Amino acid sequence: MFSPDTYRARRAELAQKVGSGLILLIGNVDSPFNYTDNIYPFRQDSSFLYFFGLDLPGLAALIDADSGEAVLFGDDGGLDSIVWTGPLPTLAEQAAEVAVARTEGLAALAGAIAAARGQGRSVHYLPPYRGEQRIQLAALLDQPVAAIDAGASDALARAVIELRAVKSAAEIAEMENALEIAYRMHLLALRSARPGVREQEIVGLMQGLAASQGRALAYNIIFSRDGHILHNHGHGHVLKSGDLVVNDAGAESPLHYASDITRTIPVGGRFNERQKVVYQAVLDAQLAAIAAMKPGVPYREVHDLAARVLVEGLAPLGLFRGDAAEVVASGAYALVFPHGLGHLIGLDVHDLEGLGEDRVGYGEGVTRSADFGRRSLRLGRPLREGWVVTVEPGAYFIPALIERWEAEGRHAGQIDYAVARQFADFGGIRIEDDVLVTADGARVLGKPIPKTIAEVEALASA
Ligand code: GLY
Ligand code: MN
Ligand code: MN
Repeated sequence: MFSPDTYRARRAELAQKVGSGLILLIGNVDSPFNYTDNIYPFRQDSSFLYFFGLDLPGLAALIDADSGEAVLFGDDGGLDSIVWTGPLPTLAEQAAEVAVARTEGLAALAGAIAAARGQGRSVHYLPPYRGEQRIQLAALLDQPVAAIDAGASDALARAVIELRAVKSAAEIAEMENALEIAYRMHLLALRSARPGVREQEIVGLMQGLAASQGRALAYNIIFSRDGHILHNHGHGHVLKSGDLVVNDAGAESPLHYASDITRTIPVGGRFNERQKVVYQAVLDAQLAAIAAMKPGVPYREVHDLAARVLVEGLAPLGLFRGDAAEVVASGAYALVFPHGLGHLIGLDVHDLEGLGEDRVGYGEGVTRSADFGRRSLRLGRPLREGWVVTVEPGAYFIPALIERWEAEGRHAGQIDYAVARQFADFGGIRIEDDVLVTADGARVLGKPIPKTIAEVEALASA
């Protein structure tokens, strides 16, 4: 946990930004996967972690935005908890760890909210993302469940986004700690992904490594020779020499900050010539994007820059015709790069997206594009110092997409479909790092994980 003062200061800033009313933050409860007592590993709500730091289920809190006072609500465990789960710190002990002076039983929360509403005060709450939260909010606010999402506080969500998006030095240290595990997971995968091995075996090695350090994964691992299927969680293929495997894997730090790293592995230890061209184009796009990042630069522009460098790098293939900037402006580039360049990362792997993807990623003169490809960019607005952002360009050959676009005659002047069709068995390539926006540029966080062709080939197993 950070120091008690850290949490006190964060809450004071939040109260000041929201200005007036009550701020209600609800911690997560245990989540059953088939019956009540058989639960998923507990994951605390990220905003609750940020402002109250406590990593146990069944807590809630109020911050009075006018006075700044915070109250922690929860119940001390009874005899059953001593027998079944072991004694836990009392609510008062937990509160003291995060500089909260007042505690109440959970049953008092409804009364506190009703009293405030009776006085005509607003009760601000964040958009919920779990059914249990909606039900709890509906009961507390005496509203139908269906009305809860629409009643969430825009002012509170924006204040939380502003605060959580900027990372302190202590938070960066946590993220580098999460990246250390990701570093080890990726090196292990790179050395183990040899011909004849089933994808699941490598996934299991990475999961085991994280688990052996007591770490949760930050998200479900993507590890597939079908890297062109973007959110593909199947791990059933046996690897063969010549395959490219996209490995998108990251872990959490002890305080639940995420790492999100992708590398692409040549099975058998060598890229062939065609793979080299595409790989180098993706790498050059990533490096150009990182070099262009600094406060004030809209990330949408960085996305477009990466797309242009990618298209330029693919020139030897003859896939795209004409000027690279035109290929990007028209949207034709999205045939091979249909997702966004990256997203904020922090306590959530897609940081803060639970509070509204557009609230987090757009505004300040940048609106989300409706175009295929660019519309999947989750972060478009100008970068700020202290943000951590993923930079993850890729190139994918999706046979069904190529077929569909060709049949529709889309971008027919700019795409040579005869060439595209020759890549039906190529799969995909993505390279992803987590990058801190500094005062005048950007810095890749964590120990460098091999990513040049020479570095990757030197470590990949034959
Ligand atoms: N690992 C999910 C992502 O890269 O966005
Ligand atoms: Mn990512
Ligand atoms: Mn990723």
